[in-house]
Amino acid sequence: MEIKICIGSACHLKGSYDVIRKCQDYIKKNGLTEKIELKSAFCLGRCSEAVSVQVDASEIFSISPDTADSFMKLMHQRTEL
Ligand code: FES
Repeated sequence: MEIKICIGSACHLKGSYDVIRKCQDYIKKNGLTEKIELKSAFCLGRCSEAVSVQVDASEIFSISPDTADSFMKLMHQRTEL
């Protein structure tokens, strides 16, 4: 699974670096480095819904530093399907 976190200006202002840090922590804590690849991306075209996160080049989610953990839990479950 590939997760791209937007670091464009709107998302940056809404905390994309905190989102990245939280996602990295979750991946490390749960031993998911083989299953989930984290990348950064420039504007994903959904600035009003920042922080934008794209999964496997298709779905786009809108998350925040506060919801990053629950987003990662959802992605974690998906890797186990
Ligand atoms: S800056 Fe992130 S979607 Fe535009």
